[in-house]
Amino acid sequence: MTKRSVSWRLVTCFASPNLSLNVLCLVVTIFVLLQNLVISHYQQPILLPPSLFTYLNQQKEPKEISKNETAYLVETLRESVTFLPLKDLRFSNKPLVGHTWFMSSLYDNQTKGEVQYQEFPSDSSKGRLLCLKGVDDHDGSWNYYALAWPQALPVNASLQEGFTFVSYNHYDYGNMWHGLSSMVPFVAWSLRNQCAKPQRWVLYHWGELRFKMGNWLSEIITATYGQEPEFLRFVDENRPVCFEKAVVMRHNEGGMSRERRMEVFDLIRCKARNYCNISLTERSKPRIGMTLLMRSGPRSFKNESAVINVFKRECKRVDGCELKVAYSSNLTFCEQVELMSMTDVLVSPHGAQLTNLVLMDRNSSVMEFFPKGWVKLAGVGQLVYQWGANWSGMRHEGTWHDPVGERCQFPDTDRRCMSVYKNGKIGYNETYFGYWARRVLNKFSIRKTQDVVERKHGYNGSLDGCRC
Ligand SMILES: *[C@@H]1O[C@H](CO)[C@@H](O)[C@H](O)[C@H]1NC(C)=O
Ligand SMILES: *[C@@H]1O[C@H](CO)[C@@H](O)[C@H](O)[C@H]1NC(C)=O
Ligand SMILES: *[C@@H]1O[C@H](CO)[C@@H](O)[C@H](O)[C@H]1NC(C)=O
Ligand SMILES: *[C@@H]1O[C@H](CO)[C@@H](O)[C@H](O)[C@H]1NC(C)=O
Ligand SMILES: *[C@@H]1O[C@H](CO)[C@@H](O)[C@H](O)[C@H]1NC(C)=O
Ligand SMILES: *[C@@H]1O[C@H](CO)[C@@H](O)[C@H](O)[C@H]1NC(C)=O
Ligand SMILES: *[C@@H]1O[C@H](CO)[C@@H](O)[C@H](O)[C@H]1NC(C)=O
Ligand SMILES: *[C@@H]1O[C@H](CO)[C@@H](O)[C@H](O)[C@H]1NC(C)=O
Ligand SMILES: *[C@@H]1O[C@H](CO)[C@@H](O)[C@H](O)[C@H]1NC(C)=O
Ligand SMILES: *[C@@H]1O[C@H](CO)[C@@H](O)[C@H](O)[C@H]1NC(C)=O
Repeated sequence: MTKRSVSWRLVTCFASPNLSLNVLCLVVTIFVLLQNLVISHYQQPILLPPSLFTYLNQQKEPKEISKNETAYLVETLRESVTFLPLKDLRFSNKPLVGHTWFMSSLYDNQTKGEVQYQEFPSDSSKGRLLCLKGVDDHDGSWNYYALAWPQALPVNASLQEGFTFVSYNHYDYGNMWHGLSSMVPFVAWSLRNQCAKPQRWVLYHWGELRFKMGNWLSEIITATYGQEPEFLRFVDENRPVCFEKAVVMRHNEGGMSRERRMEVFDLIRCKARNYCNISLTERSKPRIGMTLLMRSGPRSFKNESAVINVFKRECKRVDGCELKVAYSSNLTFCEQVELMSMTDVLVSPHGAQLTNLVLMDRNSSVMEFFPKGWVKLAGVGQLVYQWGANWSGMRHEGTWHDPVGERCQFPDTDRRCMSVYKNGKIGYNETYFGYWARRVLNKFSIRKTQDVVERKHGYNGSLDGCRC
C-alpha cells in the first residue's frame, strides 16, 4: 500500500460505525503523521497493526473518472436536456400572474421597485444557458424552452454568441403603447447594467414567434440602443438555439417603481431627440405649445373644424400660446418626436397615437377624449394613457366622454355593445371644451411662471455609460 492510499483509507475508516475501529484509526493516524514528520526522508513502509491492515485492504480506492466516462456523462447530460412548452396551458386562466404561462417553471428575479427579469446564465439558473426551439407563430405550446450547461448543449443545438433579449408581450408589438410597454423593462435593465445592448431580440406573443415590431417602436429602439433591432428567426424546429447570454422579460413595467419608469422615459425621450437631431433653444419653442393630435377613422372627431375652432380660440386668449393640428398617421417618426418636443398641452382622442406623450418635456399636460360607451364597458384598458402620463412625469388633465354616439340594441352596460362603441366617433361640447382648455392652459401658465416645467431635455443620467 502506498502512503497516499493508506491516508485515504484511514479517512474512510473514521467514517466506520465501529467505535473501537475509530479509536484505533485515530491512534494510527497520529502515528502515521508522526512517522511522516520524523522520518519522512526514509523510504520506509508504514507499519500498521494487522487487524487494521486487513480492514483497510477491504476498502476500495476512490474511483477515478476516466476521460471515457466524462465524455459519457456529458453525452448523458446533453440527452437529458428537457424541452418544455413555452406556453403552459395549465395557467391559461391566469396567464400574467407570477411565473405566468410563459416559461412557467422559471421564476423572475424580483427586487422591490426594480424590473422583474430572468437572466441566463446566472446563479439562479446554476450557470445554465437558455435554449429555445420551435418555429410556430400560431400556437405557443408548440415552441419550447430548456436550460442547458454550456458544456452539454442539447443535440443539434447551435450557440448564439453575445447578448439576446427575449420578450414576452401579452398584447402586440405593432400597437405603439403595448409595444412600448414591453420594451420599458429592457431599457430599465440596460440602465442598471452598463447600458448593455442586445445583439438580437426574440419576440414572443403568447409564446408565438413574432418577427417585427411597429415602425414607431422600432425607431424608439434604434434611437435608444444606437442600432437597429435584429429579430431572430428560427429556421428548423429540430435545431434548438442556445444563447451565450440572455435576458427574459414577461411583466412589462410590472414591479418597477415610478422613479425607475421615469428614468426609462427620460432616457428614451432624450435618445429620440438626439437621434432626430432636434436641438431645442428657448426661442425655437413657443412659450406654450398646444397640439391637437388627430386620428382618422375610428375614434376621430366627427366635426374636426368645430373642435379645432374651440382650441384655437382658447389658445389665442393666452399670451404666447401656439396651436398646431397634426395627424400622427402622416408624420414620420422624427416629425412626431419634434412635434412632441414643442408640445406642452397635448389634445387627442384615446388611441395609440397618444403614446407620443412620453416624448414631451416632463410636466406637460394631456387632455383625452372618448366616444360614447367606453367609460362603462372598456375596462381598465382605457386608463393606459393616464398611467402612461403619470409614469413618464406628465400630467393627465382628465377625460371627456361623449354622452351621445352609436346606438346599441342592448342596454348600455351590455358587453356586446363594446363592439359597437369601440370604433365610434367623437362629437364635441363647445362649452365644456372651452372651459376645460382654459383651465388647463391657466394651470400650465402658472406652472411655467413658477418655472417648474423642465425646459432642458438633457438626460442627466447619474448612471455611468448611459448618459444621453
Ligand atoms: C469507452 O466507451 C466505449 C463506449 O461507451 C466502450 O465501448 C469502451 O469499452 C470504453 N473504453 C474504456 C477504456 O472504458
Ligand atoms: C437579482 O437581482 C439583483 C440585482 O437587481 C442581484 O443583485 C441578484 O444577485 C439577483 N439574484 C439572482 C438570484 O439572480
Ligand atoms: C438532429 O437533426 C437531424 C437533422 O435535422 C434530425 O434528423 C434529428 O432528429 C435531430 N435530432 C434531435 C435529437 O432532434
Ligand atoms: C442627424 O445628423 C447626423 C449627422 O449630421 C446625420 O447623419 C443623421 O442622418 C441625422 N438624422 C436625422 C434623423 O436627420
Ligand atoms: C361642424 O361644426 C360647425 C360649428 O362649429 C358647423 O357650422 C358645421 O356645420 C359642422 N359640420 C358638420 C359636417 O356637421
Ligand atoms: C394627413 O392625413 C389626413 C387624413 O389621414 C389627410 O386628410 C391629410 O390630407 C393629410 N395631410 C397631409 C399634409 O398629408
Ligand atoms: C402619479 O400617481 C401617484 C400615485 O398614484 C401620485 O402620487 C403622483 O402624484 C402622480 N404623479 C403625477 C405626475 O400625476
Ligand atoms: C356641455 O357641457 C356643459 C358644461 O359641462 C354642460 O352643462 C352641458 O349640458 C353640455 N351640453 C351637452 C349637449 O351635453
Ligand atoms: C414638475 O413639477 C413638479 C411639481 O410641481 C416639480 O417638483 C418638478 O421639479 C417639475 N419638473 C420635473 C422635471 O419634474
Ligand atoms: C446631474 O445630477 C447630479 C445629481 O443627481 C448632479 O450632482 C450633477 O451636477 C448633475 N449634472 C448636470 C450636468 O446637471
